[in-house]
Amino acid sequence: MTNIRENAIEYARKNSSQFEQNLCELVKIPSVSTNSENKQDMHYAAERLVQMLTSIGFTEGRVCETGGHPVVFGQTKPGDNSVPTLLMYGHYDVQPVDPLDLWKTNPFTPTVKGDRLFGRGASDMKGQIVAGLAAIESVLKQADIPLNIKVIFEGEEEIGSPNLADFIKENKEMLACDYILNPDAGMVSAELPAITYGLRGLAYFEIRVYGPSHDLHSGSFGGAIHNPAQVLCDILSKMHDEKGRVTLPGFYDKVLPLSDGERKEIARLPISDEYYKQNAGVDELWGEDGYSVVERVGGRPTLEINGLLSGFTGAGSKTVLPAQAMAKISSRLVPNQDPEEVYAQLMEFLRQNMPSTVKWEVIKMAGGFPSLTNPDLPETKAMSKAMERAWGVPPVLKREGGSIPVASDMQKILGVESVLVGFGLPEDAIHSPNESQHLPTFHKGIEALIHFLCNLIEK
Ligand code: BES
Ligand code: MN
Repeated sequence: MTNIRENAIEYARKNSSQFEQNLCELVKIPSVSTNSENKQDMHYAAERLVQMLTSIGFTEGRVCETGGHPVVFGQTKPGDNSVPTLLMYGHYDVQPVDPLDLWKTNPFTPTVKGDRLFGRGASDMKGQIVAGLAAIESVLKQADIPLNIKVIFEGEEEIGSPNLADFIKENKEMLACDYILNPDAGMVSAELPAITYGLRGLAYFEIRVYGPSHDLHSGSFGGAIHNPAQVLCDILSKMHDEKGRVTLPGFYDKVLPLSDGERKEIARLPISDEYYKQNAGVDELWGEDGYSVVERVGGRPTLEINGLLSGFTGAGSKTVLPAQAMAKISSRLVPNQDPEEVYAQLMEFLRQNMPSTVKWEVIKMAGGFPSLTNPDLPETKAMSKAMERAWGVPPVLKREGGSIPVASDMQKILGVESVLVGFGLPEDAIHSPNESQHLPTFHKGIEALIHFLCNLIEK
């Protein structure tokens, strides 16, 4: 066994540039799930992944159609019930690139500068998929190991995985497993790995406010009508109180409070206010009264404005009263909140607060449940030891403010908890212009995953 481990690590070191090349190949594909014009690219990405699976020794690998973008499934030992099964999850879709003019390189032309690889999805999460496959390849090349490795790669995570829960329900047998590895969460810093045990959920909406039938001269009509942009701003400004709490009716009713014990653990994490200020590029932080920033991000629900659109926003000035106004808002949820219930709360809030001078509607968008994972599982220990070997320090256990809806879906449908890790860093600028993957961390991540696989089969 020591041999498999050592040889696999050696194999990974020898093939490190090949692994980077594999990552470049995936980053080249503009798999933006929310853009309908990228539908073909989504298929192409799925097919490329199947080819990668087959080429590294998967016995089975195929593209499965869903109501939306396809799912990729593969396994190394189909039908072998004598060995345990590890299921690795990944998403091959990425976020939109805009604002494009702020990119210093083309988002779909992977470019290495210094120790980073730039490109949309390099960190979130094509880098993590490739790291996972590299580790699997490195181990499979050494021996016939007593583990069936399954993979599921979806193409809709960045839009809230709308078809994944159904897919998992319909394919429960195929996806049956003992352990789940989900490398879509990240690290605290390049020196400090993390295992994530809590994820926030998400409820995403578009609010549209309709005023006059067309844009109006702001002199002829200013004072005569209620400006929808103003109405929207008024409404949005009422969604938080002076303590930074969300004012939707019943919003906090189901929120699981942070226990004193957990608050103590969180306080020990080496994550300071300074860390957030630096990574965000701000001088001051903001949030709900009474909680530290780490508590607010991991363990408290929020509501944020993601985008606003109304009226004249071009260069120069134009005197106009806009006919419409639109806001994209989202709420990050914690256990035991439910995205549908937050939708109902938002509708109730709008009914109570919208003036009768305008018409309005709400469009429901991405959503997903929050989750908490038991951190005391044997596979979590296997991961913790593996990370300690790769970084020389044990990982911290933390909650993540971002959302990975599949973790909750798999918990509920497959009855299996996920080991949530990842080799992205806070400075990777995921979902932002100039996203990049830190390559030394990518390679350490591959080694950590090799140790993880070896720890699993040594148990
Ligand atoms: N990989 C992220 C989640 C994440 C973010 C983990 C930051 C660790 C650090 C994931 O791909 C993501 O961005 N998810 C979306 C999900 C949503 C659209 C349902 C998110 O959180 O916005
Ligand atoms: Mn991701």
